[in-house]
Amino acid sequence: MKHLLGIEGLGRDEIEHLLDLTDSFVEVSRRRMPKVPALQGRTVTWLFYEDSTRTRLSFEQAAKRLSADTLSFSVSASSVNKGESLRDTVETIEAMGVDAIVVRHRSAGVPHQITKWVSGSVINAGDGWHEHPTQALLDCYTMREHLGGVDGLRIAVVGDVKHSRVARSDAWAFTELGAEVTLVAPPTLLPPSMDGWPVAVSHDLDAVLPKVDVVYLLRMQRERTTEALVPSLREYTARYGLTRSRVDLLGDEAIVMHPGPMNRGVEIAADVADLPRSVVTDQVRNGVAVRMAVLFELLGSGGER
Ligand code: CP
Repeated sequence: MKHLLGIEGLGRDEIEHLLDLTDSFVEVSRRRMPKVPALQGRTVTWLFYEDSTRTRLSFEQAAKRLSADTLSFSVSASSVNKGESLRDTVETIEAMGVDAIVVRHRSAGVPHQITKWVSGSVINAGDGWHEHPTQALLDCYTMREHLGGVDGLRIAVVGDVKHSRVARSDAWAFTELGAEVTLVAPPTLLPPSMDGWPVAVSHDLDAVLPKVDVVYLLRMQRERTTEALVPSLREYTARYGLTRSRVDLLGDEAIVMHPGPMNRGVEIAADVADLPRSVVTDQVRNGVAVRMAVLFELLGSGGER
């Protein structure tokens, strides 16, 4: 594995290998000095053309814990603002000697395009509506931590599937690992074609909740919604929001997940986000170890497998 561009196309063995590798980096992260010399002499940089808190910071934390050098790059304070093209920007960064570029872009396919211009590794940190592979890996890891594995789980992914790269990567990862996935959304928030999606679809959240082990809520992506796809956010919340009363429909062991950032009061009630069965902060914590595993796999000895 030289690049990580998406979950689609990865086999079960490859996903499980990355999750197993994550175990060792969770152990490192618990140490008093959570740092190993695995990537000494390697340089990682990030190219984020869209905003991020979790992904950007956890990749930075992961690289530092592996002792990689990091080149910090802010698109908003760069020559991109003077009109420099994506290709020129990437080739400029490559010329400074980087081993991996972590990229987030509003357009699907940009990380793949960058692999044609650089000799180092490229990691997709989210491209348009396409994929967000490290989010899916940390989600699988968090399910494994709380529920013992992903195989056989019944998972509802609820909300704005149409605009969600997380939903795509998660659907591939969860089903590849043996889960049954149901997408729950109004028809307007589903992709125009579900061909090739290995999932069931429902428009009735109340009917699905009693049957699932995991309810995974998607953010209502107001910045990507160019048309009125729901009558109002209040109506969306009434039918598809995880309210306190809907939580009572879940089984005792079922967990609540969200990739963040959350719209409290829209897709998830504020008090539901803080319940013990909500594992959102565990997802964030596991994101560091998962990204350590990915960087190590691509740049460390794992890359030579
Ligand atoms: N989940 C996620 O990708 O969050 P950020 O946009 O903050 O990176």
